[in-house]
Amino acid sequence: MAKILFPTLANLQQLAGFLARGGLVAVPTETVYGLAADALNARACHAIFRAKGRPTTDPLIVHVASLAAAAEIAELPPEARLLARAFWPGPLTMVLRKRDCIPDIVTAGRPTVAVRNPAHPAMRRLLRLCGRPLAAPSANPFGYISPTTAAHVQHGLGRRLRFILDGGACRVGVESTIVDLSDPGHPRVLRVGGIDAAAIGRVLHREIAVANRSGPARAAQLAPGMLTRHYSPRTPLRLHATITPALLRRAGPEVGLLFFASPRHRKDPNRAQPVVAVLSPRGSLAAAARHLFARLHALDQLGLRRIHAELAPERGAGVAINDRLRRAAAQRPNSKNDRPTVA
Ligand code: TXA
Ligand code: MG
Repeated sequence: MAKILFPTLANLQQLAGFLARGGLVAVPTETVYGLAADALNARACHAIFRAKGRPTTDPLIVHVASLAAAAEIAELPPEARLLARAFWPGPLTMVLRKRDCIPDIVTAGRPTVAVRNPAHPAMRRLLRLCGRPLAAPSANPFGYISPTTAAHVQHGLGRRLRFILDGGACRVGVESTIVDLSDPGHPRVLRVGGIDAAAIGRVLHREIAVANRSGPARAAQLAPGMLTRHYSPRTPLRLHATITPALLRRAGPEVGLLFFASPRHRKDPNRAQPVVAVLSPRGSLAAAARHLFARLHALDQLGLRRIHAELAPERGAGVAINDRLRRAAAQRPNSKNDRPTVA
């Protein structure tokens, strides 16, 4: 299994040295844990794909410590500078025209690179000590639930890794919002996430298209990693607008129920109890996003026959929560419903 290290100066220095020699390290960010390698080292980046079992057609996000570091790997149009000023460091990834120093394996041969300046202090210190950009997708086996604790990474990839940097539980809990600025006059959100698409629109003074709402076509050209089925527990997952009292009455002990907020109705105590979990007892969207993947990981460990989950209100962080829940509940590949869609 991987060694779990806390972000002391000595440990950060050791990990920066290991990354500089082409090693892989699982790292905390404010969104989810990432699996990091030197973004300028093609061989190290290949190892990320092998460790995750991820197809090399799905490009990586490159993490930088500053706007100046972003400018070394990508062209920054004025729109990118405005968004960076508003949201960096933070859960915003921008797809920009890349510079030559970024190897093709990182971008799957595309002329663009996805760039993010993360807010987690341990990750920021590691980036500074490394003095180079770090490519990092989420640190989960391809298609499985994203990790928001070091223990999740250990469970999913521990056998394939030397080191996990433990920065605690992720504060945001869903991945960054990805905005495509490769055509700066027509910015588009490719993945909803930690930052609301409307907030991006307010900064750029225009309405922002959200690609996954505009139909299933052209997925491969947009965000190639955004398959319909993704973030998935092994236990079959079914979604509901609300978990009704009738469903609660029917549910036996082999079933898990994931509520958005604390349910008002109670289970009849004389009947066998399902496993009940709640995203946010008081119904806070931010708290629900923070707990989403941890609850799915926990329920998935229990050997249940099925998980029933309630959708969040479709606003703010609820849009990202519901996007992840819908992908987690999608049919397995080879089913006719599992066509890639735009996100
Ligand atoms: O919050 C996050 O973004 C986390 C943390 C670790 O930073 N990272 C993350 O990476 O979610 P990953 O690999 O799981 O998702 C990255 C997504 C993929 O869907 C990929 O297709 C898309 O970003 N992507 C990367 N480069 C792209 C590019 N040049 N054009 C379009 N989409 C790109
Ligand atoms: Mg991922």
